[in-house]
Amino acid sequence: MKVELPKLPYEYNALEPVISEEIMRLHHQKHHAAYVKGANAALEKLEKYNKGELEINVREVLRDLSFHMNGHVLHSLFWEIMRPPEDENKPDGKILELIEKSFGSFESFKKLFSASAKQVEGVGWALLVKCPNDNFYVLNIEKHNLMHIAGFKPLLAIDVWEHAYYLQYKNDRGSYVDNWWKVVNWDKVNQLL
Ligand SMILES: [Fe+2]
Repeated sequence: MKVELPKLPYEYNALEPVISEEIMRLHHQKHHAAYVKGANAALEKLEKYNKGELEINVREVLRDLSFHMNGHVLHSLFWEIMRPPEDENKPDGKILELIEKSFGSFESFKKLFSASAKQVEGVGWALLVKCPNDNFYVLNIEKHNLMHIAGFKPLLAIDVWEHAYYLQYKNDRGSYVDNWWKVVNWDKVNQLL
């Protein structure tokens, strides 16, 4: 039942100058690794509880599991849907078709998604998710796990925790979000559909 830290599909410096090598190393090796460790610790406690070997506060452990497991899942998606920067970086194919169906145009979607990312209160994520009838929604996630809608599949995620940008952009989350569009791997997002 354990989860593992996935390898990045590119080198740590591959997203420069949009995201620095230093941020990518720390983010992957320290922050994501900590969520993997936290998720596994919660799973281990639950396993021992199930065998009658450990008494736990079930609510607390399940809260830890939700926080760390979502942290692990969202970071895994975040790494996957990025690639080296391109100035003119736009989606095509099925993903574009469904974005236009749900939001009117790619520009409208980009405006909504960017606003969601910039307005996350404290730390969290903006997500593009697909619901079972193929409609798309933009979500605004606090921490890793609050304000989710169950059953909606995340296709695109931007991490707006400070650890994702502060070393390079300081408190200017807006510039980080605006630059981030250059590193979205739309081919991968199309595959995830
Ligand atoms: Fe992160």
